[in-house]
Amino acid sequence: MSILHLTDLHLLADRALHHGLVPTSDHLERVLEDASRGRRCRAIVVSGDVSADGSVSSYQFARDAVGELAKAWSAPVVWAAGESDNRAAMRSVFKLPGSGMQPIEYYADIGELRIIVADTTVLGSTWGKIGNRIVGLKQALSCPRELPAGERKTMLVLHHPLAPPPTLKYAASALDDAPAVAQMLSKLEAKPEVVLCGHYRVGMMAVAAGIPVIVGPAVSGETSLDRGPSWDTATIRASYGIINLSDSHVDATSTPVSVENEGAEVYSFPPAEASKTTQANSRPSWSVETGLRWCGQGSEHLS
Ligand SMILES: [Fe+2]
Repeated sequence: MSILHLTDLHLLADRALHHGLVPTSDHLERVLEDASRGRRCRAIVVSGDVSADGSVSSYQFARDAVGELAKAWSAPVVWAAGESDNRAAMRSVFKLPGSGMQPIEYYADIGELRIIVADTTVLGSTWGKIGNRIVGLKQALSCPRELPAGERKTMLVLHHPLAPPPTLKYAASALDDAPAVAQMLSKLEAKPEVVLCGHYRVGMMAVAAGIPVIVGPAVSGETSLDRGPSWDTATIRASYGIINLSDSHVDATSTPVSVENEGAEVYSFPPAEASKTTQANSRPSWSVETGLRWCGQGSEHLS
């Protein structure tokens, strides 16, 4: 079974430019056009930061654009929230369960695959945390299903990754309780086959609690890593991921599509400047000394 993975769309009302420069609505259309020429996917997963301004119209644009391909494929769309999303607006447009600004958490069954969406966003913050909702997440992951054990598959979707941060900015805005989440996953009787994430705006793969973690490449742009982790640099790029799940393995591909001004810098902050904003917005358990490392109980489950 193949899944189309989109993340970090950062759409704005009226097709406005992200950072005044990036036509993210065009990026989404290009990505969908390219993906539509590939093989049919059974589901489309969008792992958060759908909108950059939280506007209803940006979500309507996403719903209509992604919905067209979903309809052609007869594939459901599974939406997760990121820190730049407005839960109430997102929920109203995508008809998601729950109400208002409550965390967006639900699951969708596609044949033998259960896709579980957890909300890692903390209102008003760029970093993520699941907090005491980890109890509900564990229950959702452990929920018995009327399928033989060998035929059940589970995919977990989180916006903030269970994966090492690529830069100091993302270390400070990572999932604050990732060690606890990885520890919880390590104790599950039946672990998910894969965890899909976004947020870092760079395609990467890691392992947490023995589970493959795939961070999707972003639709809106790419974090540049060529100057080292102390820099905060973004480049114009648009990519999508395809996840293939079989009985024996999981694999993922990342496909960049051509977009206007591809490869141009959107912004680039040198270490001193990047450090100021990083420290001003950092998660509670991070400090400059922490750097790119995970700390605390359960860190050993994160590679
Ligand atoms: Fe994010």
